[in-house]
Amino acid sequence: MDERPTLFTGARLVDPASGRDELVDVLVVGETIEAVGLGLDAEGADTIDCAGLILAPGLVDLHTHLREPGFEHKETVETGTRAAAAGGFTAVSSMANTDPVTDHAGIVAEIRDKAAAAGLCDVFPVGAITKGLAGESIAELGEMVEAGVRVFSDDGNCVPSSRVLRNAMIYAKAFGDEVVIADHCEDPSLVEGGQMHEGAHSYSLGLAGRPAEAEELVVARDLALARATGGRLHVCHLSSARAVELIRRAKAEGIRVTAEVTPHHLVFTHDDLVTYDTNLKVNPPIRTTEDRDALREGVADGTIDVIATDHAPHAVEEKEAEFDLSPPGTIGLETALAAVLTHLVRPGIVPLARALEAMTVTPARILGAAGHGGPIAAGRPANLVVFHPEEGWVAEAPFVSKARNSAFLGRELGGRVRHTMLRGTFTVAEGKVTR
Ligand code: DOR
Repeated sequence: MDERPTLFTGARLVDPASGRDELVDVLVVGETIEAVGLGLDAEGADTIDCAGLILAPGLVDLHTHLREPGFEHKETVETGTRAAAAGGFTAVSSMANTDPVTDHAGIVAEIRDKAAAAGLCDVFPVGAITKGLAGESIAELGEMVEAGVRVFSDDGNCVPSSRVLRNAMIYAKAFGDEVVIADHCEDPSLVEGGQMHEGAHSYSLGLAGRPAEAEELVVARDLALARATGGRLHVCHLSSARAVELIRRAKAEGIRVTAEVTPHHLVFTHDDLVTYDTNLKVNPPIRTTEDRDALREGVADGTIDVIATDHAPHAVEEKEAEFDLSPPGTIGLETALAAVLTHLVRPGIVPLARALEAMTVTPARILGAAGHGGPIAAGRPANLVVFHPEEGWVAEAPFVSKARNSAFLGRELGGRVRHTMLRGTFTVAEGKVTR
């Protein structure tokens, strides 16, 4: 916590949790927001002029791979949370495909302790649904719920057995109404060996495809199981138009489902893969323009609740391998906000408040990240981001992340983080990570 109070003056507050969109001053004392209003004056405070800048709740990422333990050559809790702070995040998840797998409370505590020691961003570990991510027997969900875990996912792997997933939904529900089962929805038998979206480009590039039906089938199955069990389902990184429609109908029917989409699925299409750019090789794959546009519409109308990064760091030498040998994934924490501002908000596809809702209050609620996601109000923890809505920059290596496998590498973006504050302490000040 910073010793002296901080007074942010003349910021445009965009706070989806309270619905406020107005010019304000925000006074932070210690770890807490002391006052929000115009014409605030605070003796001895450090004043930050926010004219032309937006102040919002610190961003919250529902889908981050921090890689520790086990894959520290790709990323660590410290480097990943530093990248998160740089991108304006005050809370991120950590996916369970670590080694050992995050399938018991010991690893959950270890990740949290490492994040607390780094002090850059709060981390809310996601627990595995099945032991060792093997898709067979259910992990120690109860023990992990007791350790504070709210979301369970075998991400990277779809849970292949309908029976196992159904049991996991029933079991999870017994530990509390807010416990969520999050699935990576691709039918393994249809995507085995697949490198990119199955379609015109996969045929002409000679790469094995991952068809959109692989996603539709599993989303439909998971929705049927959520309906039958009454359990809470979260669909990870949606990629196809028909799956968006399935979620829309399920919500209308009252099924307890939430869904997320990544910035890269909202920006790129399979046309962008014709250069064999391995940074665009992701699972599920980036699909057609129609799919991308349906995803954008899904965010705009609230069918898709959350924009999540799927920050998936890999080592340089891994991503420099030939396309079919390179692992899937793109980093995303440092570019997420700018990508959304540039490609969704500025062209008028998604209003700013809706985009921020999908990156703050909604993921915080799903993740159980109390104290994050707003509202920006007196008495609340001072977790916030201040950004310029249009300032141009080019995403270039080196990144703050250990990795450089960014889908946005070399691309122009508009919108830049100036300050990130975690419980009253600047983790980013004037665009620089402070520790
Ligand atoms: O592209 C991806 N990379 N998708 C996933 O689901 C997993 C992730 C990873 O762990 O690298």
